[in-house]
Amino acid sequence: MAPKWQELADRLAVQIRRGDFAPGQHLPHIRELVAAGEGSKATVHAAYKALEAKGLVRSSRGHGTIVRPHKPIRLVGKRVVLREFTREDVDDVLAIIGDDKVTAWLSFDSRDRAQAVAMIEGTIERAQQEPRTEFHLGVTKRDDDHVIGFARIGLSGVQAGKLGYAIAAKEWGRGYATDAARALVTYAFKELGLHRVTTAIGPDNAASIAVVQQLGFACEGVLRDHVFTNGAWRDSLLYSVLADEWS
Ligand SMILES: CC(C)(COP(=O)(O)OP(=O)(O)OC[C@H]1O[C@@H](n2cnc3c(N)ncnc32)[C@H](O)[C@@H]1OP(=O)(O)O)[C@@H](O)C(=O)NCCC(=O)NCCS
Repeated sequence: MAPKWQELADRLAVQIRRGDFAPGQHLPHIRELVAAGEGSKATVHAAYKALEAKGLVRSSRGHGTIVRPHKPIRLVGKRVVLREFTREDVDDVLAIIGDDKVTAWLSFDSRDRAQAVAMIEGTIERAQQEPRTEFHLGVTKRDDDHVIGFARIGLSGVQAGKLGYAIAAKEWGRGYATDAARALVTYAFKELGLHRVTTAIGPDNAASIAVVQQLGFACEGVLRDHVFTNGAWRDSLLYSVLADEWS
């Protein structure tokens, strides 16, 4: 069993990441948490030190413990890295969302350059929001910073998130989507404290179904006429995985 300070630090880290404490806000004074039964002064102090070591808070002499501005997310998988988008990613993003081979399977039609710019601007803006409810990251190979795909979890409902992903067609079949989705879902359960992650997939999308099956998602059923894309209504299969099923 994890020591008490560790449990407290993990719980506070989740609360900070999901925005319960905004950047610049003070964590409760140590004696308040002691009075609330969170443990001894040493326990709470050790938890605050652990949050400082993670870079989530800083202690300001005489002014308590203050939540730091959010650090950009960077998740390292076996084959890919997930990182925040930048405005320099437009051409790479356009090669994905402007390609009919990719968007045929997505809930939107192919987009042009102006729409790719708008998508990145919107993503960057939403990444700054407090609390953050969208985790839309660029996927790169481990040894190259060019974006070859994206993976996204949007928070919705109670401790729940919706997963989506796409990989540039020329990079299909190399395990990148599976690795990217694994890294992002792990982040969602371990760092964001989610309980349930779902994804809706077109019934004919064998590659995407293979990705979630490999990751242990279960199929819950059919969402009828779920999306209107490429000029027609389309069903989706709803897949989910729960925190205690994720290893
Ligand atoms: C779905 C998608 C993200 C998969 O990306 P990827 O990097 O090629 O995925 P991976 O290499 O990690 O895994 C693909 C799996 O699908 C399997 N696969 C690929 N094409 C397939 C097909 N036509 N029929 C059956 N299985 C197929 C692969 O064999 C692999 O499974 P395996 O690892 O068990 O062999 C990619 O095809 C894509 O971007 N598609 C368009 C957008 C999309 O569909 N997004 C998901 C919306 S729900």
